[in-house]
Amino acid sequence: MSENQDRKRSNLLVQVEGVHVMEHIANNYNKVSAFCPDPSDLLIATYPKAGTTWVQETVDLLLHSGDSETCKSAPIPVRMPFLENSARPGIPSGLDLLKAMEPPRVIKTHLPFHLVPKGFWENKCKVIYVARNAKDNLVSYFYFDQMNLTHPDPGPWEGYIQKFMHGQLAWGSWYDHVKGYWEERERRNILYLFYEDMKENPRREVERIMRYLDLSFSDDIISRIVELTSFKSMKDNPMANYTFMSKTIFDLSLYTFMRKGEVGDWMNHFTPQQAEEFDEDYEKKMKHVNIPFRTQL
Ligand code: A3P
Repeated sequence: MSENQDRKRSNLLVQVEGVHVMEHIANNYNKVSAFCPDPSDLLIATYPKAGTTWVQETVDLLLHSGDSETCKSAPIPVRMPFLENSARPGIPSGLDLLKAMEPPRVIKTHLPFHLVPKGFWENKCKVIYVARNAKDNLVSYFYFDQMNLTHPDPGPWEGYIQKFMHGQLAWGSWYDHVKGYWEERERRNILYLFYEDMKENPRREVERIMRYLDLSFSDDIISRIVELTSFKSMKDNPMANYTFMSKTIFDLSLYTFMRKGEVGDWMNHFTPQQAEEFDEDYEKKMKHVNIPFRTQL
């Protein structure tokens, strides 16, 4: 058993405008909400475990014409500050990192639409949102919450499904999150991507992001970016795979950050009864929107 596993976690979630978050995020929120981006800044927004890091690495490579050396200059949270995160061992707060960087910057957030600082919309910043089907997102979060020692203990699987369904995980309800950005995507010019589409045809999605960023590259450079952002390449990339995190935050002896990277892993976890109950509840929560999620390819 790892040294960290038997250490009891006392971290709790608190609410900001009805959304469960870690206490340090709540304490930092007033400052975050007042943050004013430059119009040239780009926001990458996701519910945790939807493929944030994958899109971040893709965007960084696109912005650097596929130059992998430049993109390996620093760990991903240093290259792309995590807006609402306060200082962690070895990594300054998102706001402090942003202060030290010149625009255009790429900024990561897990905040739901209504908690994103208004300046992003006032300044018409570009925003890329990535969504992943609920059941795979839940499974990925379940493993992540076990190895992320700053999050509350996830507890057993059955209870975790309930917490997910009730929006009681860090950054709140998956359902409200994906709906919030979906409903605003056209008005705010948000590029709304799906993890499953990226798995199905990564090249098509890289090209989609490239066009959104008003960039254009040769087929060779695009192929290179697709290769550098494959699951295998990113798992082996020490600047993207989170092996740089302090052991007091991620216990990588339990699970790696780049865990499996598949669509449909939920089938290895949900019993038929759990899937049925989950789907029934899902239909109710999602009945007013038609977001084309796919749970298998
Ligand atoms: P799994 O736990 O299902 O493996 P985030 O970056 O939002 O925290 O999301 C992490 C999830 O995205 C993990 O899912 C991780 O393996 C997966 N992921 C990261 N990079 C990926 C890639 N290049 N291809 C496919 N999946 C990737």
